[in-house]
Amino acid sequence: MCGIVGYTGPRESLDILIGGLERLEYRGYDSAGVAIVGEDGRLRVRKDQGKLQALKDLVAKDPVNGNFGIAHTRWATHGAPNQVNAHPHTDQTEHIAIVHNGIIENCDALREALRAKGHTFDTETDTEVLSHLIGEYWDGTLEKAVAAALRLVEGAFGVAVISDLDPGKIVGARKGSPLVVGVGDGEYFVASDVAAILQHTNQVIYLADDEMVVITRRGFRTQTIHEIPVSKEIEEITWELSQVEKGGYDHFMLKEIFEQPRCIQNAIRGRLDDDGWKAHIGGLNLTDEELLRHERVVFLACGTSWHAAMIGEYMIEEYCRIPVEVEYASEFRYRNPVIDSKTLVIVISQSGETADTLAAMREAQRRGATALGICNVVGSTIAREADGGMYIHAGPEIGVASTKAFTSQVATLAVFTLHLARLHGLSDEPARSLIHGLRRIPEQMEKILASEPKVADIARHYYHHDNCLYLGRGYNFPVALEGALKLKEISYVHAEGYPAAEMKHGPIALIDENMPVVFICTKDSAYDKIKSNMQEVRARQGRIIAVATEGDTQIQSLADEVLYVPPTVDALVPLLSVLPLQMLSYHVAVLRGCNVDQPRNLAKSVTVE
Ligand code: M6R
Repeated sequence: MCGIVGYTGPRESLDILIGGLERLEYRGYDSAGVAIVGEDGRLRVRKDQGKLQALKDLVAKDPVNGNFGIAHTRWATHGAPNQVNAHPHTDQTEHIAIVHNGIIENCDALREALRAKGHTFDTETDTEVLSHLIGEYWDGTLEKAVAAALRLVEGAFGVAVISDLDPGKIVGARKGSPLVVGVGDGEYFVASDVAAILQHTNQVIYLADDEMVVITRRGFRTQTIHEIPVSKEIEEITWELSQVEKGGYDHFMLKEIFEQPRCIQNAIRGRLDDDGWKAHIGGLNLTDEELLRHERVVFLACGTSWHAAMIGEYMIEEYCRIPVEVEYASEFRYRNPVIDSKTLVIVISQSGETADTLAAMREAQRRGATALGICNVVGSTIAREADGGMYIHAGPEIGVASTKAFTSQVATLAVFTLHLARLHGLSDEPARSLIHGLRRIPEQMEKILASEPKVADIARHYYHHDNCLYLGRGYNFPVALEGALKLKEISYVHAEGYPAAEMKHGPIALIDENMPVVFICTKDSAYDKIKSNMQEVRARQGRIIAVATEGDTQIQSLADEVLYVPPTVDALVPLLSVLPLQMLSYHVAVLRGCNVDQPRNLAKSVTVE
């Protein structure tokens, strides 16, 4: 959830570290700090609460120079988001500094054991406990002390550690929280996310759980925390720097909304076969026979990825005729789920690092299931630990509110559904329409995006409301959930998504002239039914914003505002109907003065339980 960056090499580290934090600020933004060993050989720490700008102001007034250091942007878990609790933390002697992502679950016991040895603590953080523990094991070699301390830690960590007693060296380690090593020309980096170092190198090494790296400007060495050497491959990142920049847009979220036509092209490229009306998917690591042996599918995901999974459920049941369940990853792992070798588990995660999703996948694998991962971040933990899977190829998603990852997940699920459905005997005609439909989505998305000024205008009429209901049926029910999530997470407007017909079982009590209701009512098999639900809202003076299919003139008499999307096959409607909802949330948030890319309390990648 927090961001880590570290640098050692011939250059001044401060600008590199601050530049890295700028690219990581989406991972946490309640405080930030740097620790650098200066040319005089002394370790110096600068940190402050609030956004990165506070740290920049601080180092402008009180600079730190030196060519190796570590930095952090925080999303608080233990202790308030203030200056004292900000990272880096130092050990008792103030010669060792650490930045840390994750949660140390046995920190209370470790703190007490250290107190008994005379340690005193200034902060409420688990990280300070770890820094003292490293100090306790100090015997002149940083990696030895770090390894000894980490062997006692229960929980998750991604760490970078430096000491002025072991100059030029950074020790990184991970367990359950990502850490990559950047390999430059005579310089090396560690980071929690490649975005932080992409400006300097595209050559990286991914650490696995319980692995450590020791970097100096002369090279790197990898080992486990049990001090067993491991050899790692250097991999090349294909993301480009422009993808982690705003490119003229006011916010990453808006840029990513507008990237969606290209993302869908990337998600389907090379995967659709117009001759046989089927899909080609590399990377599943399952033969057709093995796929067919699975009698049911269970999706595991959180948040927006969970909404995409629901669409996957509807698609697979419609086209493949096998039972599908969608589970919140966080619930799945603490129940006693019925999973066996005939269950195909599909894990969806943009980041590939979400702690609940990763743990649920491991639990499913432990119970004998084959797990496929649908991820965006290449080399992420879920992508690596899954038995096979598909990348969605959306490129880096920086906005905390997921947009392009959602539609890319849905497009990828459509491709997978087509593949499985053909194996299950789906006939040519529906397969052909799915392929044609998918191919047309990018151009149809462009058309919807061109209506942004109209969406902005509607936002101006409604942004002052503090509540909003989103209703949809069939494939548009998960879209209603997603629309509501987008609005609440970036504009702090209370929003609920419901299946439209459920309204009369409770939420209808909320309807009055102060309750805008967004109906996603495209022309599909549930269209006539949803019109009755709209009448019910109208009869109670509710204000209606409708997302409808182009050419639908009847809807105008039922709705106060109508946003149109082009027609497509039912299963693909979410790819289009969600776009106006994303734009609406964006404009409402901007009008309410919210920080769209860094909504309060949220972080992009939730690597804690
Ligand atoms: O990286 P993941 O897809 O696993 O993330 C899951 C959720 O944390 C994520 O979708 C979250 O709900 C977003 N803020 C939604 O916009």
